[in-house]
Amino acid sequence: MSRPAMSRRRFLGIGGAAVLGAGAVAAGSPYLEGMLKQGQPGLLLRSAAPLPRPYQVRLPRPQVLAPTRSDATADYYEITQRPALLRILPGLDTEAWTYQGSYPGPTLVSRSGRRTVVTHRNQLPQPTVVHLHGGHTPTASDGYPTQLVHPAGTGGGAGAMAGMAGMAGMAGMSGGAGGMAAMDSGDGSSRRTYTYPVDQRAATLWYHDHRMGFTGPHVWRGLAGFHLVTDDEEASLPLPRGERDLPLMISDRSFAADGSFAYPALDGSEVTPGVTTPYMNGVLGDTVLVNGAPWPVLDADRARYRLRILNASNARRYRLALDPQPPGGGGLVQIGSDGGLLAAPVAHDSIDVAPAERFDVVVDFSRYPAGTRVRLVNRLGSGGTAEVMRFDVGGGAVADDSRIPAGLSTIAALDPSRAAATRTFLFQKSDSGWTINGHGYRPGRSLATPRLGTTEVWRFVSDFHHPVHLHLNHFQVVSRNGADPGPFDGGWKDTVDVQPAEAVEIAVRFEDYAGRFMLHCHNLEHEDMAMMADFTTR
Ligand code: C2O
Ligand code: CU
Repeated sequence: MSRPAMSRRRFLGIGGAAVLGAGAVAAGSPYLEGMLKQGQPGLLLRSAAPLPRPYQVRLPRPQVLAPTRSDATADYYEITQRPALLRILPGLDTEAWTYQGSYPGPTLVSRSGRRTVVTHRNQLPQPTVVHLHGGHTPTASDGYPTQLVHPAGTGGGAGAMAGMAGMAGMAGMSGGAGGMAAMDSGDGSSRRTYTYPVDQRAATLWYHDHRMGFTGPHVWRGLAGFHLVTDDEEASLPLPRGERDLPLMISDRSFAADGSFAYPALDGSEVTPGVTTPYMNGVLGDTVLVNGAPWPVLDADRARYRLRILNASNARRYRLALDPQPPGGGGLVQIGSDGGLLAAPVAHDSIDVAPAERFDVVVDFSRYPAGTRVRLVNRLGSGGTAEVMRFDVGGGAVADDSRIPAGLSTIAALDPSRAAATRTFLFQKSDSGWTINGHGYRPGRSLATPRLGTTEVWRFVSDFHHPVHLHLNHFQVVSRNGADPGPFDGGWKDTVDVQPAEAVEIAVRFEDYAGRFMLHCHNLEHEDMAMMADFTTR
């Protein structure tokens, strides 16, 4: 059913075999050069609705979800996925698909070592899948993209059909009809319970939809929230806490004239995955939201704040900087990455954040004179997308007993010279979609079968911007194009910003859970258009 739509797609720019190694950019491609200059993978979708001027609304803080019950070893939560009308733009309602009625969804907070059990109910019109991004999670609860939670009231019937159709579309895209045997379209139920051992260190994780072929439109409509993990080590540090520990979910969106989210889906009924041809590199919104509000303002004390920055955009990359910089620069002091605390703080003037990456930073607003208005800007944007949010630094003296210790944590370096295997993965556009090693995604086909308890080196080679994400285990970046890792590669990572014509090596130790997990590009348009693969631990 999706084949005619697929064959209509004529891909722009570089062809299938453009890049076989770092440096082999298709020279002279105006398309690729444009992308390189822009630093952005995608095309701007302009809103038809009138947009507000920046800095008119307060920064919201997502609610923390209370457990419905707790016992000696576990906390139990319930989340209903449902449509909700949100007031994002002045005077217009936006119908969102939400976790529990809000965007971002409610924040979950887990203590490391305590099991977190989350039951999701789906009251949305389409099947969904929940993935805890950065979670060290057994395969049954990891949100395999065909483990569907069906819409309530369909009894698995219509929902299952829709899921099947999406599957068939993907199989067609990858040029094979196989893989169906590996399909698990869920048990037909409109609830699913995900069990997270949370046997992992403190970190800023997030949960989001992961339905095969339709993750992009689902996340765009609002299916994303924070899941913070705390532990004793982090709790013992004198970092900013309480009101001054702020998760910041940054996402770009565009709006139709009636205020609804605009998204260039090929097929709004969710049979055929993907977006229309011009947007196939990624969908860029013209409105920057932080915690769901457009260009918000925080009244900040002259004190240190911990900002847990998450780029929850489908495709957009940000180069975040404070404007003005504090005297002496280095205003963004990074203390953590995707997988938790760094060994030691790193001061940056600006930070590049690819989709799904997290940067935990401390900003000391006492370095600014009282009354300063400090903008968080995006140096990869222009016009509205160059602005993110503003901190209005207050006047009065405030108490602040926080500090950034010179040593934060210990990170044992993985030794790439002792890798049990080295594998190369090519992330490329092909005539039929986005591929890894020439394959579009097919459930059940593993591109690697690492052994638990071993370390491997994985080498990601790209034609374009691809934020590459691994489920199950965090990794360490070993090299970029044969040289040292970049300034934003430090610490434990689960997503790495692979840029055009780069080769990035990571070291990863596979631990604890045997089964099928995902390796994919976190540009959600690339992911939906098949830049995803299984790997199977054994
Ligand atoms: Cu954040 Cu497999 O995704
Ligand atoms: Cu990609």
